[in-house]
Amino acid sequence: MRELIRKLTETYGPSGAEEQIRAVIRAEVKPLAGELRVDPLGSLVAHKQGDGKRIMLAAHMDEIGVMVTYVDEKGFARFTNIGGVRTLSCVGGRVAFANGTLGVINVEQKRDDADKIPQMSQLYIDVGAKGRADCPVQVGDTAVFVRSFAAQGTRLIAKAMDDRIGCAILIETLRRLKRTPYDVYFVFTVQEEVGLRGARTSAYGIDPDMAIAVDITATGDTPESMHMAVEMGKGPAIKVQDRGMIAHVEVRELLTRRAKEAKIPYQLEVLELGSTDAAAMQLVRAGVPAGCISIPCRHFHSPSEMVDEGDVENCVKLLLEVLQKA
Ligand code: CO
Ligand code: ZN
Repeated sequence: MRELIRKLTETYGPSGAEEQIRAVIRAEVKPLAGELRVDPLGSLVAHKQGDGKRIMLAAHMDEIGVMVTYVDEKGFARFTNIGGVRTLSCVGGRVAFANGTLGVINVEQKRDDADKIPQMSQLYIDVGAKGRADCPVQVGDTAVFVRSFAAQGTRLIAKAMDDRIGCAILIETLRRLKRTPYDVYFVFTVQEEVGLRGARTSAYGIDPDMAIAVDITATGDTPESMHMAVEMGKGPAIKVQDRGMIAHVEVRELLTRRAKEAKIPYQLEVLELGSTDAAAMQLVRAGVPAGCISIPCRHFHSPSEMVDEGDVENCVKLLLEVLQKA
């Protein structure tokens, strides 16, 4: 799976500009799915037809990024965030635009509040332009962090691990899934990072009997981190609740039961910030029983998000257990 994870994480695709990552995922799932379609907001739906109840699996293919708001006379671009971008992880970093243009992010040198964490309005992107007329980027253009994938032992490090790791897990699960008593939809959603938007419309269209999101979650295992019982490398985390949802108790119990039966290590997740596509999916139509499996991820929403390969593999196994048993 490493090559797949490398390919997915290194591809460009901020919220609202998912064309490139969608093309990469489409090429991977085309030989595996019975039916493929792109819904009106842009989410990619790979359908594995079956006679049973409809199960929707969702992983978001968009990533956080930045959008140009203003280009000054000297050709420096000001920008706003797409999703949860921290200024601390921007300074000194590089971003890439859709056409491959590279930019360096830095902070205004003379600041009255130089001892404070800078505001995003104090940062700028330098693409090396000679002036505004020469600047290859314009207002509304979007960019993502540049950072190559790396593996160190079982630890995998990349930008956009949130949530390309979920996309990799869905692709690998579809690849290994031979028989299923269910009608399964593998959905690669758009615009999660800006408000769980793609999952909402996809779920409305599919009208599933059960929905499961696969996404990353925070961990409580780094220096002075919050008290959280999730650790990297201790297995996929079955969500109990986060800020946007309480996981449906039957879905949560199904996930924990299948993990126990197959002796797959797992953890229970209570997240005190953020949410996932599961929160949107559970609230469409008359309501959908929804749950979430999370991959513990250190340094999320930074250019170097870290996960453990064992957690990823065990998540694929757990999904297969859920999809193959009646
Ligand atoms: Co995220
Ligand atoms: Zn995510």
